[in-house]
Amino acid sequence: MPAESEHPRIRTFKPRRGRITERQARALEEHSPFLITTSNPLELPKIFGAKEVILEIGFGTGVTTAAMAAAQPDHGFLAIDVHTPGVGDLIARIHEEGLTNLYVIEGDAIELLEHQIAPASLSGIRSFFPDPWPKARHHKRRLVQPERIQLMASRVRTGGSWNIATDWEPYAEHIEEMMATQAQWVGGKIDRPSWRPVTHYESIGLSHDRVINDFQYQRTETPHTHI
Ligand SMILES: C[S@@+](CC[C@H](N)C(=O)[O-])C[C@H]1O[C@@H](n2cnc3c(N)ncnc32)[C@H](O)[C@@H]1O
Repeated sequence: MPAESEHPRIRTFKPRRGRITERQARALEEHSPFLITTSNPLELPKIFGAKEVILEIGFGTGVTTAAMAAAQPDHGFLAIDVHTPGVGDLIARIHEEGLTNLYVIEGDAIELLEHQIAPASLSGIRSFFPDPWPKARHHKRRLVQPERIQLMASRVRTGGSWNIATDWEPYAEHIEEMMATQAQWVGGKIDRPSWRPVTHYESIGLSHDRVINDFQYQRTETPHTHI
């Protein structure tokens, strides 16, 4: 087997440094019970009880993540991002707003899904304004790619959903094309869901007069695999 470093994994993000504010640093240092730091498989019923669990990939600032969790207290929310300042912000917000159904992970969602989430254990995935990677040579970094689509399908229960939104029309076309090739998902464009607040990146897109496209796909009955 070649050494792992010979085939570095293609990531959906570019590591970036960000200045950490005092509030964010404090939130990260305070060992919040809502910050999940283990790399072991997650026992979702132990964390969320009988609640259905929704995973949000790439929450950014987390403002809308907290709002959606507050609006659906009967659901459990797991939110992951690689960007440390956003993680600090969301942890601080969870405590300020007294939320109890939202847990945060700092890391790569693909690795989380591969190693820590059991097959068919999520009721939904949300990815709002994933990085569009506009250059053709970067398309393989897009979140919506066949291997990643199959990974998501393996972790969502039958009938569960995957909601995606983008302000980048070529990415919207790409999403439709890619999802049409995968039997585990059925769906397509929808009107903006009433429960989805305007996100930070969406507001930037809107200020540039970009068209927002929302998608919703349902997990079909094809068997689940542990990828
Ligand atoms: C364009 S921003 C959108 C943020 C937010 N959803 C919004 O609409 O304002 C994309 C986010 O996805 C995160 N991201 C990209 N790939 C990721 C991955 N594999 N795992 C976790 N987060 C990821 C980035 O760090 C970034 O915060």
